[in-house]
Amino acid sequence: MKNLAAVVLAAGKGTRMKSEKPKVLHEIAGKPMLFFPVNLLKNSGAGRIVLVVGFGSEAVVEAFSDQGLSFVTQEEQLGTGHAVMCALKELAGFTGDVLVLSGDVPLIREETVKTLLEHHRKGNKDKAVISIVTTIEENPKGYGRIVRNEHGAITSIVEEKDCDSHQKKIKEVNTGIYLFSADFLHSNIKKLGKENAQGEYYLPDLIHMAVSQALRVDSISITDATEVMGVNNRVELAKAASHMRARINEEHMVSGVTIIDPLSTYIDSGVIVGNDTVIYPGVRLSGATVVGKKCVIEEGSVITSSKVGDGTAIKSYSVIEDSEVGKENAIGPFARLRPRTILADKVRIGNFVEVKKSTIGKGSKANHLTYLGDSIIGEGVNIGAGTITCNYDGVNKSVTTIEDGVFVGSDSQLIAPVTIGKGAYVGSGTTVTKDVPPGSLVVTRAPEKVIEGWTGRKLKGKGKG
Ligand code: UD1
Ligand code: CA
Repeated sequence: MKNLAAVVLAAGKGTRMKSEKPKVLHEIAGKPMLFFPVNLLKNSGAGRIVLVVGFGSEAVVEAFSDQGLSFVTQEEQLGTGHAVMCALKELAGFTGDVLVLSGDVPLIREETVKTLLEHHRKGNKDKAVISIVTTIEENPKGYGRIVRNEHGAITSIVEEKDCDSHQKKIKEVNTGIYLFSADFLHSNIKKLGKENAQGEYYLPDLIHMAVSQALRVDSISITDATEVMGVNNRVELAKAASHMRARINEEHMVSGVTIIDPLSTYIDSGVIVGNDTVIYPGVRLSGATVVGKKCVIEEGSVITSSKVGDGTAIKSYSVIEDSEVGKENAIGPFARLRPRTILADKVRIGNFVEVKKSTIGKGSKANHLTYLGDSIIGEGVNIGAGTITCNYDGVNKSVTTIEDGVFVGSDSQLIAPVTIGKGAYVGSGTTVTKDVPPGSLVVTRAPEKVIEGWTGRKLKGKGKG
């Protein structure tokens, strides 16, 4: 099989985004939109991927610096043809096929590129020098129109602004996805002119150039026009994101995840969810999140870059960030796990409990109204309602260690650094300032005073009796 190289065009400013950020870095399903064509190319076996950057190039290069790509800067955006001309400097001597994609067309599917490759490479005789992907657009505004002769063969692509009234009515459009033989590109790209309405070097002009040299131009057509929709403003960004979301949700459902209301479920690209997990409406799973099998994630919960073990229930309106939750846990409703929380199996974190940078051992529970920060908590520990680890003295953060089997009574404060030894018992309302040896009881409590008949006396003579 011939070698495949790819060029992704991403130098444009994206003026219509009205943004300081380059267009291709705007996010769809939690990833910059440029991620999608780049990822697709990696999966399609492209040996080299050249990214043409221009506007905001530093930010784009930084965002993709670890992907093994080559970057070419197009200083002035003189058109798509000029952009490919710049990219070819990186591909000097390359003789395989060159796939060209746009950085602002994020929904294109791998199967489409695969079909294009197969189509382009089949048969050796009279091989096409260019194969393109076209689609029928009911509203073709803004797209280049595909002009065919009476035999149905492509003769040229005409940009909207250069169309005559007859051409404007053509609904078959250029999707901006092309496969070129490198030899053809190398020997023809410099011949592109810019005598057109926009004064730009148009890449699609190569089609007419090939035809006039009696070389073959081929095409495949796709029926799902959303796949090739370009993102040029924020309305299209939202539309593309909603298509992407539907696609991601469908993939999860097909692989065995129940999504009760796909329209209100936001799962980022790259998130993994095990089968028989049930996701309620209004849930957002983002970043590098991995959810196990047979979990339940109830409405309004947000999980970011975290792991959730099999059989865990995340009840309504819980927020989990950069944390690891073990198997068969019960979290929430209204729980918050902040970064670097690590929960073992069968842990319960109940309503209005905040946990930060803490590890909690198997079977331990903090069911109500509690703050656990910078703490190391063993197995089988019971943390009563209203317990607070006082981890911050205004200058330093300190660690609270609670060993296996400890019982912390409600409304206790643990002033870190402090250790509660194995099996110890903290009486309700205690402020612990010193280490507690294993097996002991610690209690600090003002003596209780009961004055009988007090209310009657106090209120006497005030007319209330
Ligand atoms: C282009 C095609 C049009 C096609 C449409 C499909 C041309 C002349 N027209 O139009 O036939 O129907 O895509 O979406 O190619 N870019 C650069 N450098 C430049 C100019 C553009 O890198 O000098 C990049 C842009 O960042 C973008 C891509 O090329 O990612 C396409 O450019 P854009 O200006 O959006 O072209 P369209 O007008 O959409
Ligand atoms: Ca475009």
